[in-house]
Amino acid sequence: MLTRRQFLGYSGAGILAATAGCSPQNINWLLNQEEASSNINLSLADKARIRKQKNLLLGYPINMNTPSEDFFAWRQQLLDAGINTFSYNNVGNPFKDSTIPFNTHDFEREIILRFGKIYGFPPANTWGFLSNSGTDSNMHGMYMGRTVLKGRTGVLPKAYFTKEAHYSIQILRDLLGLETVFVETLPDGGMDPNDLRQKLADNPSHPALVVATIGTTFKGAIDQVDRIQEALKGYTSYLHLDAALFGGYLPFTSHAGEVTYQSKSNPALARYDSIAVSCHKFFGFPSPAGLFITTKSNFDEFNGLFSQIHNPEYIHHVPGTITCSRDAVKPAEFYFFSSPSAMDKLAEDSKSILQNTVYLLEQMQAHFSYLQPTRVNDLSNTIFFRKPSDRIVKKYSLATMHLEINHQKQDYAHVVVMPHADRQVLTEFMNDLDKDSVARL
Ligand SMILES: Cc1ncc(COP(=O)(O)O)c(C=O)c1O
Repeated sequence: MLTRRQFLGYSGAGILAATAGCSPQNINWLLNQEEASSNINLSLADKARIRKQKNLLLGYPINMNTPSEDFFAWRQQLLDAGINTFSYNNVGNPFKDSTIPFNTHDFEREIILRFGKIYGFPPANTWGFLSNSGTDSNMHGMYMGRTVLKGRTGVLPKAYFTKEAHYSIQILRDLLGLETVFVETLPDGGMDPNDLRQKLADNPSHPALVVATIGTTFKGAIDQVDRIQEALKGYTSYLHLDAALFGGYLPFTSHAGEVTYQSKSNPALARYDSIAVSCHKFFGFPSPAGLFITTKSNFDEFNGLFSQIHNPEYIHHVPGTITCSRDAVKPAEFYFFSSPSAMDKLAEDSKSILQNTVYLLEQMQAHFSYLQPTRVNDLSNTIFFRKPSDRIVKKYSLATMHLEINHQKQDYAHVVVMPHADRQVLTEFMNDLDKDSVARL
């Protein structure tokens, strides 16, 4: 049985601070009677400690800010309307009528259309759904690519990506039973379009399922979509963008073009086939979720093939999604993040994370150049550097990796400057680096 002590342990990890609407007293009945006899109220001091502690998470791309009170008011409205009080289910295609009336497809559809517009998809040619995570969205993108390419050619595609791609891409490749063609990277960690050209020429008898990353996990590199498309000319291909983190903020910056579906110079030209973006990363949705957006034409082609194998009778239509049951609460809650005022906040956050990234880089270059701080491009909110002491790695939950850079293998760490990583947090981080450097002398 979960004890009161264990329950409070969760709050130490910051969970309760982000869920102002969750009343810990109400779960007392779940806890061990003896232990639960006193109330589990967090003191103001506890709450302040948690707030500070969560903001020290610098090593992973999670927005640790607590959403505005309006979000929790919205959550309450949904609860009052019955959503999340019994089993709602978004099974099926959100753009079709569902046989289960208790769903939130209306919210889900609207989210996809609103974000589809942001990524430059033509409104009449947009399809997608709210998934469980960036990985889940990548899975759908790769599965859709695999299905349409096999349908067009009768041959399974090979999956092209770089070793800088998120590790889950290799897992998905395994699940989809695809052979990998690893594409070399440029010095900044982005896909080398010339090597892609060469690898495509080496594999002429298989269509190409290319996964490009817009913001690689450790270095923050960008695979250049337009150059990839040039290399793909003349080949049967499907290009999926893994924009788990950068896809959240780039649309609100002058670099929006990196993630737009339509080519700026020729709007009739598609730059990619589908895109995956995590909702808990930049947007700050307080639980894992993902956007998966593609065109309606891609979806129709996929669906035509999908329906040949999957009998749609059971749910009265072809679902178009890999999982059958899907969460109905997340789309209703995430709808809040597609409102005009939420978008204004996202635009503000985009500006501040890029400014704070520049600040951190300049300060680290000025004071800690021995750590070789590196930002590989101006679009990135990630700075990697030689691994500092274990104390700092632990305090700021830094991700670390053993990398070979300039023919030298070293341990590196990175800071991902998310909206909660403000000047105060970054200054505290650098003060700790300073103490580290004094200790080294
Ligand atoms: C580039 C990239 N793709 C995919 C993922 C996985 O996303 P999620 O955690 O939403 O499944 C990550 C996570 O850090 C990532 O950096």
